[in-house]
Order: sequence, then structure tokens, then C-alpha cells
Amino acid sequence: MKRTKLAVFASGSGSNYEAIVKACCEGLINAEVVLLVCDKPGAKVLERAARYGTECFAFNPKEYGSREEYEGVIADMLDERGVEYVCLAGYMRIVGRVLLERYEQRIVNIHPSLLPSFKGAHAIQDAVDYGVKIFGVTTHFVDETLDGGRIIDQGAVVYEGSDIEELTTMIHNIEHKLYVKTINKLINKKY
Ligand code: GRF
Repeated sequence: MKRTKLAVFASGSGSNYEAIVKACCEGLINAEVVLLVCDKPGAKVLERAARYGTECFAFNPKEYGSREEYEGVIADMLDERGVEYVCLAGYMRIVGRVLLERYEQRIVNIHPSLLPSFKGAHAIQDAVDYGVKIFGVTTHFVDETLDGGRIIDQGAVVYEGSDIEELTTMIHNIEHKLYVKTINKLINKKY
């Protein structure tokens, strides 16, 4: 059976990238990651991608005249490789209209909070500061707004401790399973 081609976009550590690739290798998802896009040359995710043999496009946005310009390059790479879905996994950039138009309803993101609460780059810390007891993770379609777009899946973490590292690990563990569930929904068009 034909495997769905995915691209993963990441800027940092890449634990979600690795979880997706492993799930593909283990047959938990009938898909393959054909391209990793990274806007931070030197990011740890690139080491992980080298280990798994995933083709990488690492770029420095400052070397392009505009977001439209680098997104055009990326969109062409996605098309050439027959990518069906783009999974943002810690990609610390707003996706612009070039990619959103070419991959309409085919770009998803994972965010470490129960959206629409705690959007932005410091979601876990913001939730802790607010006194939250039920934390969580959300996967959603990407639109032009920050952490906006229709929700696909959510997972919850009950935590009343005070160790942010422990909490972050718990949240990451949920993320890795949730992304696999969401990608299966995308592949089977059940969302
Ligand atoms: C995750 O917490 C994800 O929800 C957020 O960025 C983080 C990326 O972690 N969008 P990793 O690079 O996949 O380990």
C-alpha cells in the first residue's frame, strides 16, 4: 500500500520529528518522512535527521529577501517530493500565505497546551504561572494566526507538582503519541 509522504518542519531538538519517524519505521503510521525543513542551521534536529537518513533542507531566513521567497523555495521542494502533509514540530516561525495557499488544510502543528489557552512560545511556563492543574497538548490545522486553526486532537496531563522539567517530560511523552494519532487521522481523512 502506498505510503503517505510527510515533511516535518522543526527549529530545535526534534523529539517530535524522531517520534514521527520511529512510528513510520515501526509501521504505526503508513507514511514516510521525505524531508525535514529546519530554519536553524546547527539545531539538534539535524543530527537526529542524519541518524535516520532523512533529507534535510536547513536554511537561514536572513539569507532570503522575504518570507514569500523562502517559502516559495520550500513549497517547490515539497511539490517535487510529492509531500501530502506538513507537520510542524517546534517550528518557531509563522507560516505565511505562500505555504498556506499551496498546502491548504494540509499543514498541522503540535502545541504544548490545551488550546485556545496559552498560545505562544512559553506555553508550559505560562500555564504553570497561571496555576493550571490540567495541562495538555493540542494538534491543529495551521492558519495565518499564531497557534490558531481548527483543533484535531488533544491530550491532557494532570500535574500538581512544581518541577517544570518533570512536567515538560510528561507533556513531551503525550505529544509523541498524540502526533502519531493525528497523522493517522490525516492519512485516513478522518478529522
Ligand atoms: C514541543 O513542545 C511542541 O509542542 C512545540 O515545540 C516543542 C518541540 O519539541 N511546538 P521537539 O523539538 O519536538 O522536542
